[in-house]
Amino acid sequence: MNKIRLGILGGGGDSLIGPVHRIAASMFDRYELIGGVFNPIWEENIGFAKKLGLPKSRIYKDLEDFIGNETALPTDQRVQVVSVLTPNFLHFPMAKRLLEEGFHVICEKPLTTSYREALELKKIREEKQSIFAVTYTYTGYPMIRQMRSMIQNGDIGEIQKIDAQYYQGWINPVIHSPESRKSVWRLQPEKSGQSCCIGDVGTHAFQMLEYVMGQKIKTILADLNYLYEDNFMDIDGTILLRMSGNAKGVLRASQIATAEENNFTIAIYGTKGHLKWAQENPNYLYFGLENTPLQVLKPGHEYNTNSANDATKLPPGHPEGIFDAMGNIYNGVANAIAKKAVDGSYPDLYDGVRGMQFIEAVVQSHQSGNTWIEMK
Ligand SMILES: NC(=O)c1ccc[n+]([C@@H]2O[C@H](COP(=O)([O-])OP(=O)(O)OC[C@H]3O[C@@H](n4cnc5c(N)ncnc54)[C@H](O)[C@@H]3O)[C@@H](O)[C@H]2O)c1
Repeated sequence: MNKIRLGILGGGGDSLIGPVHRIAASMFDRYELIGGVFNPIWEENIGFAKKLGLPKSRIYKDLEDFIGNETALPTDQRVQVVSVLTPNFLHFPMAKRLLEEGFHVICEKPLTTSYREALELKKIREEKQSIFAVTYTYTGYPMIRQMRSMIQNGDIGEIQKIDAQYYQGWINPVIHSPESRKSVWRLQPEKSGQSCCIGDVGTHAFQMLEYVMGQKIKTILADLNYLYEDNFMDIDGTILLRMSGNAKGVLRASQIATAEENNFTIAIYGTKGHLKWAQENPNYLYFGLENTPLQVLKPGHEYNTNSANDATKLPPGHPEGIFDAMGNIYNGVANAIAKKAVDGSYPDLYDGVRGMQFIEAVVQSHQSGNTWIEMK
């Protein structure tokens, strides 16, 4: 079987997320990395491509160079799907041009820097019918897929309370001086968009809640923290959530939770019991039922659903980590490209658009004096 020809924009040798995507793409032997633009500085770009063993002819100086040359190639040679792994402000212009030229797209979150741009991408995709994934990586973990199946199967009953927390501490060392803030693109609105903390990590927590519940959050009320008057990007936030009926909850996100690493947790409480998961120990799914000893579910067992076991590659006892989670998303995209059908095994453009709606609603709620905002 021919492999899917993959291009990458961003994700160079100096990047955080680049290695995760490259390893994920190679995990199921379904993609072949062909080329791309890894870095806007030519020497860095070509130097890194050489390290990866890619031919110089498929390394381009920028997006237009990539599109012009790739679309001139015969269809059986040109790149089919492009991963966009740049800082946020480049997602929209890159994804838009790629969609217009008929490429499939795998785009990092947050999808764009505004809800309006996200809606524009949705419109173009509807016309072009390309596959479009947005890499909310954590939905690729087997025990998250198990959690989703169990909630939707009614195992914890009717949902009445939801709680998501995404605490990091890495901004604490840079936030206290205006000079050091300049070294971080996530703290610059022109590169990051209208939000730092909620756009970067809060959006993961929001998408995860809706993903595992299969239900929408209806209204939100946000209180953001900027810590200093001359810092224009949120670095912490607490958001109250309401669903239909009387179910309510809270989403807490922070990048100044000092000395926290990647402490992302999610808990859903129903009328019969709860399910709880933590990213730093992703093999454990805690299942509590009224008047029953706590159960801990793990990957690779027959008691799990097919969606969890399909996302598990090794026998029980082998940690399924972040690379595996992203690998499962790439595998879902490969299935969709092969069948030209969406099979629900990867977060798609809908999740990306919804994420942008959430970020804008949060900023609007905070700026309007902590008011309730509807998320239609
Ligand atoms: N899904 C996740 O869990 C997750 C985790 C981390 C980052 N991200 C997202 O991934 C994106 C990148 O984040 P990062 O932490 O890897 O950033 P980074 O700053 O570490 O890396 C960005 C890369 O983009 C390259 N780049 C910049 N401008 C470019 C251009 N014009 N053309 C081509 N390449 C260019 C840089 O050279 C660098 O290699 C962000 O949108 C971020 O939100 C997602």
